[in-house]
Amino acid sequence: MKHLLSLEQLTQAEIEGLIHSAVDLKAKRKSCPQVLAGQTWALIFNKSSTRTRVSFEVGIRELGGSPMFLSGSEMQLGRGEPVKDTARVLGRMVDGAIIRTFAQKDVDDFASFSGIPTINALTDDEHPCQILADLQTMQERLGGWKNKRVCFLGDGDCNVARSWIWASARLGFELVVGAPAPFQPADSFMERVPKGTVSVESDAMRAVSGCDVVYTDVWVSMGKEAESADRLRVLSPYQINTQLMAAANPGAVVMHCLPAYRGKEITDEVMEAHAGIIFEEAENRLHAQKAVMTELVR
Ligand code: CP
Ligand code: NVA
Repeated sequence: MKHLLSLEQLTQAEIEGLIHSAVDLKAKRKSCPQVLAGQTWALIFNKSSTRTRVSFEVGIRELGGSPMFLSGSEMQLGRGEPVKDTARVLGRMVDGAIIRTFAQKDVDDFASFSGIPTINALTDDEHPCQILADLQTMQERLGGWKNKRVCFLGDGDCNVARSWIWASARLGFELVVGAPAPFQPADSFMERVPKGTVSVESDAMRAVSGCDVVYTDVWVSMGKEAESADRLRVLSPYQINTQLMAAANPGAVVMHCLPAYRGKEITDEVMEAHAGIIFEEAENRLHAQKAVMTELVR
């Protein structure tokens, strides 16, 4: 692996290797190999972040390196300097880059022009780091994903949903995307996904039926704020609440990438009942990303 640009580009063996390494790094949290010693890694963020920023900054330090946070709007990037020029400058000065932005193409271009390990920290298309942490959490809490049925409920065409779809296609577990027609995965996207593990269901109750994991994300992703009113109206039947959870398998867990908007995609009651696993997911961002960076400098 040279970069982590999407889950689409990873093989089953690569994903499994990263999860194995993440679990191992978690066990030796404060005595992990200093694989980034003497290195500086840049974080270039064009969107807000709490978990991703903090977990990368802490993770880089724990691996012996130095993080450098750069807000895209304060860089010349924000005044129109092309990504390919920014990439060639940073490629001569820093050892790795972590990018949160809108267009996937910008992260892909940065990787090819900079020549340094580049990580997608969320684009409009994918959020691979999040799903690696989620898979680690499934490994620890449910013993893995084999024979598990996962439901992604809500905006089925968002970055987190798409990365889940690739995880299902690569690892072979069943994924049901529960979403209303305007928020189902685009046909042009699904054409790229191997058939067999992913299904789409417009009825929320039917979508969660028989599921071991019920997963949701915000209804209004960053950059979609102008569509807020429409999204909240159309997605309201997909809220994870106690009544809906009764349709899932007994003992089913709820997962959420966070931030959570109580009263919208999830009720406070369900959120608090599943807080243990949800905040474990958040912590696992640190371990999974340390595994990714360790792999990229190997
Ligand atoms: N889940 C996630 O990526 O959180 P942040 O937006 O806070 O980084
Ligand atoms: N789909 C959400 C994920 C936030 C972590 C967004 O893009 O805003």
